[in-house]
Amino acid sequence: MNIHPALHTPLCDMLGVEYPVMLAGMGTAGGYTLTAAVSNAGGLGMLGATFLGPDKLREWIRKTRQLTDKPFGVDILLPSAIPKDIDLTKVKDFIPKEHIEFIERLKKDHGVEKAKMWEWPMSEEFGRSQFRVVMEEKVPFFALGLGTPEWLIPEAHEGGMKIVSLCGNVKNAVRLKERGADIIIAQGYDAGGHTGRIGTFALVPQVVDAVRPTPVVAAGGIADGRGLVAALALGAIGGWVGTAFLATHECFVDFIELGMLDQRMIDAYQRKLIENDEEAEQITRIYSGKTTRAFKNKLNEIWDKSGLKTLPMPLQSLVMGDFVQGMMEKGEPEYFPMFAGQITGMIKKVRSTKEVMDDIVGGANRILNEYLPKTAKINR
Ligand SMILES: Cc1cc2nc3c(=O)[nH]c(=O)nc-3n(C[C@H](O)[C@H](O)[C@H](O)COP(=O)(O)O)c2cc1C
Repeated sequence: MNIHPALHTPLCDMLGVEYPVMLAGMGTAGGYTLTAAVSNAGGLGMLGATFLGPDKLREWIRKTRQLTDKPFGVDILLPSAIPKDIDLTKVKDFIPKEHIEFIERLKKDHGVEKAKMWEWPMSEEFGRSQFRVVMEEKVPFFALGLGTPEWLIPEAHEGGMKIVSLCGNVKNAVRLKERGADIIIAQGYDAGGHTGRIGTFALVPQVVDAVRPTPVVAAGGIADGRGLVAALALGAIGGWVGTAFLATHECFVDFIELGMLDQRMIDAYQRKLIENDEEAEQITRIYSGKTTRAFKNKLNEIWDKSGLKTLPMPLQSLVMGDFVQGMMEKGEPEYFPMFAGQITGMIKKVRSTKEVMDDIVGGANRILNEYLPKTAKINR
């Protein structure tokens, strides 16, 4: 392929990759198989490690290295304002009685007892233990959703690691720049997973202007070459792509070994991605207490009918996690958080990661080499 020079952005040099495409960190979907596949296809793979304890994380980093000799990174969710070391048994005391009654009733009605796998020990200490492993394993890029704690960046830089931080508005982008983030991901409302209030088209140029010269990568709604070229036109130096990689053979598979997903659930998830349009998701706080974009499902209906208010992070996930995971283990896809972005209507089939990457890069190349020069002539 004769690659247009505009596609060799400063991001390619910063990351040591061929194309300015980063796999978005996806802690429920992007394991070592997908991470390595994206890196092998010329982008930067990003291991979704949100739920991995230190031993598993080390194992998955090493498994990624067995599958690729190209650079990749690790992504976790670590809100800046998180308690130092949460004692989950004590935190549970803050859950209101009505919420406990609601979930106990739900579990009873659906025959769920204790799920085999569930507890996200979301605390600063857990985040630190993940960070230590990433440093020890000398992974060059560490990405953080939902904020980046102040202590982390100087320590990372001392160890030669670059920090990639997500944000959804200008205020947080400026805070991340001041803390020293190396790359800022401006993630628009269109995105799957935790997401903010500002659409990608409005957000990206405003973040670019506010944090210059810190490099910005666009996220939310990039699924093919058109999205990537648009991101570059908005001033970003690349795209951070999540939902488009969900419909690949390499996605989700490693999460089976964690007990978080099984093949029935993966098939149901990918069917939803193929069969649905851009209106199939909704923004909800029911899974984590913070706004996430996920497919509408029965659990949303049940929650809405209950009239209960969602609780702040991490209480909401403590209320819901066990039930949701228990229903997954029973093979009930209508209760599982299937995070996905608004590009869903563009997904027509499950492909290989390489096909998705070639589609994004090849499409962007055609636009830059052929389509834009032609329309520029017509408009003149
Ligand atoms: C299934 C799924 C899981 C996600 N999990 C995480 C996560 O663990 N950490 C994180 O930083 N972002 C997470 N996100 C958000 C992505 O990093 C990214 O910002 C988003 O997918 C980009 O928008 P797009 O889905 O339109 O491509 C998740 C997104 C999806 C779709």
